Amino acid sequence: MAKFTATFARRILLNMAKLPDVVFVLGAPGAGKGTQSKRIVEDFGYTHLSVGDLLRAERSRDGSAVGRLIDTCIREGQIVPIKITINLIKKAMTDLMELDNNKSSFLIDGFPRNEDNVKGWTTHMEGKANVKFVLFFDCDLEICKKRCLDRSQSSGRVDDNEESLNKRIQTYLKSTKPIIDQYEKEGKVRRVDASGSVGEIFEKLKTFF
Ligand code: C5P
Ligand code: MG
Repeated sequence: MAKFTATFARRILLNMAKLPDVVFVLGAPGAGKGTQSKRIVEDFGYTHLSVGDLLRAERSRDGSAVGRLIDTCIREGQIVPIKITINLIKKAMTDLMELDNNKSSFLIDGFPRNEDNVKGWTTHMEGKANVKFVLFFDCDLEICKKRCLDRSQSSGRVDDNEESLNKRIQTYLKSTKPIIDQYEKEGKVRRVDASGSVGEIFEKLKTFF
């Protein structure tokens, strides 16, 4: 009973607390989403949630019922069904906020990647988080590709190879870019020219935070 009451009280307090702020981080593979997110965390106190990392962790989790499906999607550059992804995002946000009440600003990197992702977010998270804007790393695709192939030496990622990369870029153009264009029309996009060096890009995006 005491445990129930404490849990209940904590939930009420969490519900009363300010809604978490969210910035979606989008761009082609290799545009610099992860690299820049880490710097934004250091300078502006955001918490970084890489959706690719959440999916890779679930893929490796012992006993995961969806590990194989995630693995296939990642290798093929396809987008994982939203039911899986949204649960991972929700759980990560809830766990982090329960652990530390001050965590209330999240960079969600690599999301939403397609129409299905957008709908899933609306269904599960509307009214539970405040999406401030979409940070869009706009980068020449040849540069993106080169960065990923260079990174493949050290990243150990199964999808940083020419074949997977071509598929990921096709998925980006077919499914993700239209989402960014839609947000642009709604005035929600903050665009950064992401073809320069890490330092140069960070200098440009700073003004948005
Ligand atoms: O963002 P990142 O490049 O780490 O994503 C790697 C892969 O994870 C994507 O190519 C895709 O297969 C999967 N992913 C997804 N849905 C998301 C984000 C990533 O299916 N919203
Ligand atoms: Mg990344």
